[in-house]
Amino acid sequence: MCTSNAYGATLLFPVSIHTTRMLGMSAVGKSRIPGEGLAAHEAPREGTVEAWAWQYIHTMDLNQKRFPTQPPSLWEDGQVARRIASPGRPPELEVVARSPRTPKPGALIRDKVRAQLFHTFWHHELQAAELFAWALLAFPQTPLEFRQGLLGILQDEVRHMALYEGHLAKLGFQVGSFPVRDWFWQRVPMAEEPEEFVALVSLGLESGNLDHGALFAPRLRIAGDAEAAAIVDQISLDEEAHVAFGVLWFPRLMGKTTYDFEAWRRALPKPLSPILFRGKPLDRKARARAGQSDSFMDALAEWTPPEA
Ligand SMILES: [Fe+2]
Ligand SMILES: [Fe+2]
Repeated sequence: MCTSNAYGATLLFPVSIHTTRMLGMSAVGKSRIPGEGLAAHEAPREGTVEAWAWQYIHTMDLNQKRFPTQPPSLWEDGQVARRIASPGRPPELEVVARSPRTPKPGALIRDKVRAQLFHTFWHHELQAAELFAWALLAFPQTPLEFRQGLLGILQDEVRHMALYEGHLAKLGFQVGSFPVRDWFWQRVPMAEEPEEFVALVSLGLESGNLDHGALFAPRLRIAGDAEAAAIVDQISLDEEAHVAFGVLWFPRLMGKTTYDFEAWRRALPKPLSPILFRGKPLDRKARARAGQSDSFMDALAEWTPPEA
């Protein structure tokens, strides 16, 4: 059952189901949520970080997606979990069901192919920014320090969008020049608990992007676009910090001090497989700098799906 809101976006769960899920399932913040006054389909109180995040997800104004205002410093005093199922999409963005194929390395000598690649990366960053906003709305029971971390990463992702867009313009293209696919949005809201979100995004998608960044930067350099390569390298460095955030918070959210590959694999929302979150090869140096252990990386590199 979904609930529409004033912006035309939909909420994934009716309040009662999600509230039941939240109670007693998370190691952090097990305090009971008041049964009265829940209004998960309503916008948060104006002037709060939550209202800012809500607006960022729902807006259909491309400029607000690209250049959001500074978030306020006030956090909502409440425990209302709001789970937004889909973002507002500006009319400039054509959303399609299937992404174009990843270009072959040799094709990157063409400006249009590099522009299309950067456009895809830009849209990954947009979805990441929106989904960190999603998480701070979905998991209000988590420590404020965790949610402040989500907000900081969100702002990094917005900066990354600007870096990609700047180079896109130099190549003669703009946001909206190519269709986009909301792949992350189709999966990340499957996370029911904050540790699942961290497993999926920080230790899954963002970790895998360290591997992919290490592949694309040299390809772009060989294709003659040193500036594009430098942007990918610069963003990968920021992403190491995002992965480190996951290394810190994944065990902490479960009331533990450490984690192993199996704990991470079990926390991935089903049916998502570890295969989705590794490049070939792993960028072991970057992952190690972010705090991932050798045993985790060994297990990830070797993992094969169980036979049906
Ligand atoms: Fe990013
Ligand atoms: Fe990131």
